[in-house]
Amino acid sequence: MNWMVEWPGPFPIFVKKAKGSRIIDADGVTYVDFCLGDTGAMFGHSPEATVKAATEQLRKGGITTMLPTEDAAWVGEELARRFGLPYWQVAMTATDANRFALRMAREATSRGMVLVFNGCYHGTVDETLVRLVDGKVTCREGSMPPPVDPQFTSKVVEFNDLAALEQALTSRDVAAVLMEPAMTNCGIILPEDGYLDGVREITQRTGTVWIVDETHTWCAGPGGYTRAFGLKPDIITVGKPIAGGIPAAAFGISQELYEKTSGNMLAETTGVNGLGGTLTGNAFALAVMRATLKKVITPRAYKRMIPLAKKFNEGVEETIREYNLPWHSIRLGARVEYRFRANPPKNGAEAIAAKDPLLNKYVHLYDLNRRILLTPFHNMALMSPYTTGKNVDLHTKVFRDSVQEIIR
Ligand SMILES: Cc1ncc(COP(=O)(O)O)c(C=O)c1O
Repeated sequence: MNWMVEWPGPFPIFVKKAKGSRIIDADGVTYVDFCLGDTGAMFGHSPEATVKAATEQLRKGGITTMLPTEDAAWVGEELARRFGLPYWQVAMTATDANRFALRMAREATSRGMVLVFNGCYHGTVDETLVRLVDGKVTCREGSMPPPVDPQFTSKVVEFNDLAALEQALTSRDVAAVLMEPAMTNCGIILPEDGYLDGVREITQRTGTVWIVDETHTWCAGPGGYTRAFGLKPDIITVGKPIAGGIPAAAFGISQELYEKTSGNMLAETTGVNGLGGTLTGNAFALAVMRATLKKVITPRAYKRMIPLAKKFNEGVEETIREYNLPWHSIRLGARVEYRFRANPPKNGAEAIAAKDPLLNKYVHLYDLNRRILLTPFHNMALMSPYTTGKNVDLHTKVFRDSVQEIIR
């Protein structure tokens, strides 16, 4: 994968083993892992309950059968309880969940366009691999050509700009607004006060489906940003850590959307409604999701992770203050990110402009050589329930040393 070669140095480290908050490489070197599979392992590598459920399900028998298991009902009910939407469908990856959510939105609205935000990432979903350049929608740099020119499929506006959103939706040709409630993929960008209320109001008024992608913002709490901040979206998508890193994802829809789409969802006339594949909803994934939701992604885990993230953030801020750097550090639940600009950006354009590839490489390589793994291409750190105060202290020290080294 291209992100495996984006780690600093001429080649990535090769992993022998990953457990809890640690990775041991092929040479036997142990690292403190703050990348955690870019959220796939946010609750630690190979958590006990996940491993136990996976092993038991394999032994018991039943990997994939094209039939539901009781676990499916449990998982659906649990996701409804956590995120507040009543109907859930399983997918294999968050990319999948987003693709299917867009299909649902098109089915419900009979519209074609999709609106996303500059600087977003929602997986390899064709309509969303886009950027806003000089006010025009273009393909995202580096991405291979999509089947249809994104000008015909996508609108892109800046985050935290309600006027731009309103203008883009008034023509009523947009099926869905797909967004992270706080952006995370060009660094953390928090919504301004009232912004998400405004998004809800405008989407409702224009008959546009509001999809909240919680894949990364699940770091905010057990029911994601949605529950933590009382959002009321029409669709929620989740993925990555939902089965401890074993491929699984899900999307939930509102009662209203269910009523508009269930005809095709439940039709007996065709096995193909454009959602999922042969292995989707397989018994193995559901058993692992159930155990992971029940025993790993728990309120107790967040109680441990969030204070560690605060500590990590404070450690970085201390050095920024000490050396009077024009940088900042920002936190969202169990996720921390620091950037090379004085204030947090309010949208993707500002975040992209603040990138400093050389400094970025330097920080990552410095950390790697001192046995710390930060997420490649941004300075993002996740805390798992296995992360310790000592792990965070190590980062605080190494970060300070790395700064001291370059400002001498
Ligand atoms: C917000 C968001 N949604 C969806 C995805 C896609 O996840 P996956 O690559 O597991 O399909 C990502 C991946 O980074 C993401 O950041």
